[in-house]
Amino acid sequence: MNMSTNEDPCILPPLGVVPEMMWAQTIRRERYGDPRQAFAMEQVPVPALAKDEVLVGVMAAGLNYNAVWAARGYPVDLIGLMQQRDGSTLDYHVIGSDCSGIVYAVGSAVRNVKVGDEVVVQAGWLEEDDPWVMRGQPDTALAPSGRAWGFETNHGSFAQFCKVKGRQCLPKPARLTWEEAAVFMLSGVTSYCMLYKYPPNTVKPGDVVLIWGGSGGLGAAAIQLVRMGGGIPVAVVSTPERAAYCQSLGALTLNRSDFSHWGAIADEAVLPGTQDAWMKAIRPFEKALKELTGGKMPAIVLEHPGQDTMPTSIRVCAGDGMVITCAGTSGYLASLDLRYLWLRRKRLQGSHYAELDHCREYTELVANGTLSPLLSHTYTFEEVPLAVQCMADNLHPPGNSAIRIGAAHPRR
Ligand SMILES: NC(=O)c1ccc[n+]([C@@H]2O[C@H](COP(=O)([O-])OP(=O)(O)OC[C@H]3O[C@@H](n4cnc5c(N)ncnc54)[C@H](OP(=O)(O)O)[C@@H]3O)[C@@H](O)[C@H]2O)c1
Repeated sequence: MNMSTNEDPCILPPLGVVPEMMWAQTIRRERYGDPRQAFAMEQVPVPALAKDEVLVGVMAAGLNYNAVWAARGYPVDLIGLMQQRDGSTLDYHVIGSDCSGIVYAVGSAVRNVKVGDEVVVQAGWLEEDDPWVMRGQPDTALAPSGRAWGFETNHGSFAQFCKVKGRQCLPKPARLTWEEAAVFMLSGVTSYCMLYKYPPNTVKPGDVVLIWGGSGGLGAAAIQLVRMGGGIPVAVVSTPERAAYCQSLGALTLNRSDFSHWGAIADEAVLPGTQDAWMKAIRPFEKALKELTGGKMPAIVLEHPGQDTMPTSIRVCAGDGMVITCAGTSGYLASLDLRYLWLRRKRLQGSHYAELDHCREYTELVANGTLSPLLSHTYTFEEVPLAVQCMADNLHPPGNSAIRIGAAHPRR
């Protein structure tokens, strides 16, 4: 055990040396709010390991939208949640749900990795003896001990070291840089499941798939995944620059700034005499979509904005098609006109992250070059507050962004 922490937060100690303290970008309750002020670089203790845990020296972390939720402390005060639900005694939160790194230490029961291994971390945190999984059920969000690592748990990747369960470590694809390896997993595997793991509504050749936020983490991954299955991705974005990015990945695009019907359906839009109003308002979007696709409506709609877009998603989805959602970025209180759901037998499906096997499959698709990690920007460790603020303001670069930590000082 080495007491000292280097003054440069990006210098990791020699392999096998585990210091007592480390640099981390922490969130504290009294700073909840705008990301630019919620995060601060400070020294905190390196976490001790349980027998099924691994200490990873973080070479690079991946940026995800959950950093915005964590920084705001809304809708969930995660520090309070971890204290109440899991008995945490910590008054700070080190978040970060994606990373690449080097194994520095392992607990006595860890068999799948050893000190020195180069790994990527998937965010599916689970107790090894979870009763749901022990009964042979898949390790989905339904497992009682299941947590989103680096969001609902402490010691995520915005630090020199993170603490993970052994099962979270997968071999780092050799062809990727540390930064590329840090960014592909969370949003990518979430989109992968949404598009391929809810049969019979999976991407089939020729299917139109409508993708909200096409240049974002979920959206850009979805464009690649739809193309992989022979489908036709239609990406919705809000700027011409983002449209150009999505087109470069092979998507048709619509700019949502050209339309104005967004938001929940108002009560007065379903009164006798006025009930056509909302349907009329949506028509320009529907028409533009049909013009792009030759009249074909989406077999799958990849939802995550929620409140602003759900009425449109339900309306434009094809009969027997599926609207699948994993978030409510613009608001949780989404409305829908049920007539468009039942009359044409559409499916509204929830989805949350992935199983370990899905993470393995997705990693293989990235490792063998079928999919790109979609890295477009790398921030320094000090820039975490800025990076998360850009995301909160919807001004972030397209695709995925990395935060360079140990990789700032190449080791070999
Ligand atoms: N449950 C899960 O397992 C899971 C996993 C990953 C992510 N998520 C959640 O999914 C959401 C999106 O994540 P992400 O990584 O894709 O974020 P992202 O990179 O910020 O991309 C989201 C995109 O959505 C678009 N958008 C924002 N507000 C919108 C609105 N009001 N109407 C329509 N489009 C809007 C924006 O693109 P334009 O402005 O260009 O349209 C934005 O780029 C977040 O809430 C995140 O926490 C959930």
